Amino acid sequence: MAETSYDVVVIGAGPGGYVAAIRAAQLGFKTACVEKRDALGGTCLNVGCIPSKALLAASEKFESAQHHLGDFGVKVGKVELDLPTMHTHRTKTVKANVDGVAYLFKKNKIDWLKGAAKFKNANTLTIDGVGDVTAKHIIIATGSDVSNLPGITIDEKRIVSSTGALELSEVPKKMVVIGGGVIGLELGTVWQRLGAEVIVVEFLDRILAIGDGEVSKQMQRILSKQGMSFKLSTKVTSAKASAKGVTLTVEAAAGGNAETIEADIVLVAVGRRPYADGLGLEAAGVQLDEKKRIKTDHQFRTSAPNVYAIGDVIAGPMLAHKAEDEGMAVAEIIAGQKPHIDYDAIPSVVYTFPEVASVGKSEEELKQAGVSYKVGKFPFTANGRARAMNATDGFVKILADATTDRVLGCHIIGAEAGTLIQEVVLAMEFGGSAEDIARTCHPHPTLEEAVKEAALAVDGRPIHI
Ligand code: FAD
Ligand code: NAI
Repeated sequence: MAETSYDVVVIGAGPGGYVAAIRAAQLGFKTACVEKRDALGGTCLNVGCIPSKALLAASEKFESAQHHLGDFGVKVGKVELDLPTMHTHRTKTVKANVDGVAYLFKKNKIDWLKGAAKFKNANTLTIDGVGDVTAKHIIIATGSDVSNLPGITIDEKRIVSSTGALELSEVPKKMVVIGGGVIGLELGTVWQRLGAEVIVVEFLDRILAIGDGEVSKQMQRILSKQGMSFKLSTKVTSAKASAKGVTLTVEAAAGGNAETIEADIVLVAVGRRPYADGLGLEAAGVQLDEKKRIKTDHQFRTSAPNVYAIGDVIAGPMLAHKAEDEGMAVAEIIAGQKPHIDYDAIPSVVYTFPEVASVGKSEEELKQAGVSYKVGKFPFTANGRARAMNATDGFVKILADATTDRVLGCHIIGAEAGTLIQEVVLAMEFGGSAEDIARTCHPHPTLEEAVKEAALAVDGRPIHI
């Protein structure tokens, strides 16, 4: 047992919690972080962002060796999958990252209190296997957990969540993904590249439903060309697992005749729910909102004095970088500083190939809000570097205010879209206009030039199209 009294105790060592702990320690607070998992890093490092990207990177290389290297004049012999080694790449990547957080805790003199925390009152936590710990300030960063559908039991063998889908020991012949959102498309892509037939069943009439409609349509076309199939406007009414596989019953979302689909593996990817189970929030006077998220004000204060909450467990997009920025901000607020997060400039990326990246408003949102806007679009087919890379699928679309030219949103489908979006995020953070991007010198030949061209297209003057 280290200390029993701290300035700041953070509950949860995910990207929100561990960053909050490091920033608090940097600001001179005596800090501890409670984490019940055997490793630091939360969902993101252990079973989320990092292992999924390790498998996406590995499966992309497999697919490339099988199908695309020949187009570049690179001949390879018979390409074989070594799935155990691919999983070793995943586990090694995770270990390097979670060990990195442990190192940062040591470096910043942060105590890791191993166990599950529960509030005794607003200043005291009881931690399993540790005992009672008091703190002047407590930050809740307990994240989120998998959402399930009524009547479906996730056994992590035949019917899996994202966690089970990261660890399959063989490639399923047929995989049904329930939910055409981020997890469904990323992990569906991994197993499809490795040889599975993948069918995505989505309740709504489009995939990636919260993004820009044009992006959803084009992405569905691209993924269909890659071999993924889609059943939109369809709901799953039951899934029964047996030793042989899973029988799914589906019907039209609006109701209709039932149909059955047989699959080896079913991935349930219908969203995540904020996780505050077992925290004993009542003892501290911390309230939830109508969506069972911890209620906070604009400074992450909960309804209890000195208790704050950040990350997936509060409102806002469930993204690691959003949690991290909130982690930095909350520590600075506790220190009396005045940080600010611009929630209109939080990018999101889907790491399929091509990637999908967006920031700010979609066209649908602007129309609904009655904002008059201009659109500048540029396709990667007209970008020299994209041609050289054989990566011409997709486009850059910039939305700017019709009167002021201020950038309101950007949506990219393309190779490295997640990297390309960042200059637009920065422009938006600085209140920049499409003209600002258009007049900024971009190196040639790069994919970034497509961003510049889209910005020029906002004013009707792209050069290369
Ligand atoms: P979490 O990372 O969920 O961490 C919370 C921690 O709190 C957990 O470790 C938990 O064990 C601990 N905890 C909970 N209750 C207690 C308690 N009572 N006592 C002690 N400890 C407790 N986001 C991206 O931005 N990019 C991506 O590419 C991406 N990919 C993803 C892929 C998958 C498959 C999944 C599932 C998620 C992905 N996400 C991604 C989302 C990202 O993982 C989350 O947004 C992020 O982890 C949220 O961070 P957090 O700190 O709020 O919570
Ligand atoms: P999601 O919200 O992205 O997608 C869930 C999809 O399931 C939606 O399209 C929804 O309409 C559909 N759905 C809901 N109920 C259904 C039903 N009964 N039948 C069929 N479809 C149904 O959620 P997902 O993919 O589970 O991801 C959870 C969170 O994790 C996301 O909010 C995301 O923020 C985060 N994440 C982020 C990643 C990234 O940034 N690259 C990667 C993976 C996850």
